[in-house]
Amino acid sequence: MELLLTGGMGYIGSHTAVSLTLAGHRVVLYDNLVKSAEVMVERLERITGISPLFVSGDVRDTDHLTDTLRHYAIDAVIHFAGLKVVGESLEIPLEYYANNVQGTISLLQAMREVGTRSLVFSSSANVYGEPRYLPVDEAHPTGVTNPYGRTKLHVEEILFDLARSDPSWRIICLRYFNPVGAHESGLIGETPQGIPNNLMPYIARVASGELAELLVFGDDYPTPDGTGVRDFIHVMDLAEGHASAVAYLTGHSGWQAINLGTGQGYSVLEMVRAFEAASGRPVPYRIAPRRPGDSASCYANPEKALRLLDWSARRSLADMCASTWAFQSGSH
Ligand SMILES: NC(=O)c1ccc[n+]([C@@H]2O[C@H](COP(=O)([O-])OP(=O)(O)OC[C@H]3O[C@@H](n4cnc5c(N)ncnc54)[C@H](O)[C@@H]3O)[C@@H](O)[C@H]2O)c1
Repeated sequence: MELLLTGGMGYIGSHTAVSLTLAGHRVVLYDNLVKSAEVMVERLERITGISPLFVSGDVRDTDHLTDTLRHYAIDAVIHFAGLKVVGESLEIPLEYYANNVQGTISLLQAMREVGTRSLVFSSSANVYGEPRYLPVDEAHPTGVTNPYGRTKLHVEEILFDLARSDPSWRIICLRYFNPVGAHESGLIGETPQGIPNNLMPYIARVASGELAELLVFGDDYPTPDGTGVRDFIHVMDLAEGHASAVAYLTGHSGWQAINLGTGQGYSVLEMVRAFEAASGRPVPYRIAPRRPGDSASCYANPEKALRLLDWSARRSLADMCASTWAFQSGSH
């Protein structure tokens, strides 16, 4: 198939591009490079042996998107493009709504114009808010607590209304849990700008000596070791989930929300120990007070993905840490 990946030069998009290319699809990466760099094209070619097509553009530019969809005769779109930092979304909510919500409406208008009706959307477990029960399944009530999560929920609702209004749309919202790790080559991975907001890149930089220590926010949660528990999923497992979602769309119309997680929670301290084992480096940490808004524990019920997409996560915590370390310690 001919697939357009908006935001395809970013962390999850680039890994998904590898999976899709190796599965025989042709990918077009549409990105404004606000959070990524053009060197990605060359790295993807080194991994897959095929140079991906890159189109420089903003998803809010509906005419440019329309031309791109038409020019490459795109069958389906995977929509990664967006801003994703919860803390930043509290400071600049308008930019988040403009990028994530307005950007999606622009994409949908372009798709409608050219008759492309298949879409996979990058949603987030953030739409569930504080878990009311575990594991979190797709029937769990939504309850967003920040502008970033609200942009994801708004988009999911827009997509739901669209699919209800016109049965020719085929839409899947993938609710990611906590993507971590890197491609096994160590050539691509997560490259946050400045101080990382996510746990795994932070741990990696402490292990490499770039950062002095990890602050662990809270050790008095009702979890086995008192630190927060999350469902970390290897980014290559996540990437393969997108390939399965695209295959599912071929035969099914309507709207679906599907969790992509492992179903297994790991605590912050378990992550630290696993990373020390994978890297052979110490990860010094210090316990700090809990952060407002953090929940004790959150992990997915991944059964719907298995049932509908015939997909489940295969890679271990050791794989997640080893690939992150290979990327961190490479020469990028
Ligand atoms: N990484 C996570 O932990 C996580 C978790 C849940 C959901 N998500 C969602 O998955 C998607 C991809 O996340 P990621 O981790 O790869 O992020 P990322 O920042 O690495 O990639 C996003 C890409 O989108 C591009 N982009 C942003 N705004 C754009 C615009 N207006 N037009 C064109 N391109 C634009 C950026 O340049 C970047 O290449 C995002 O929508 C994010 O909200 C990520």
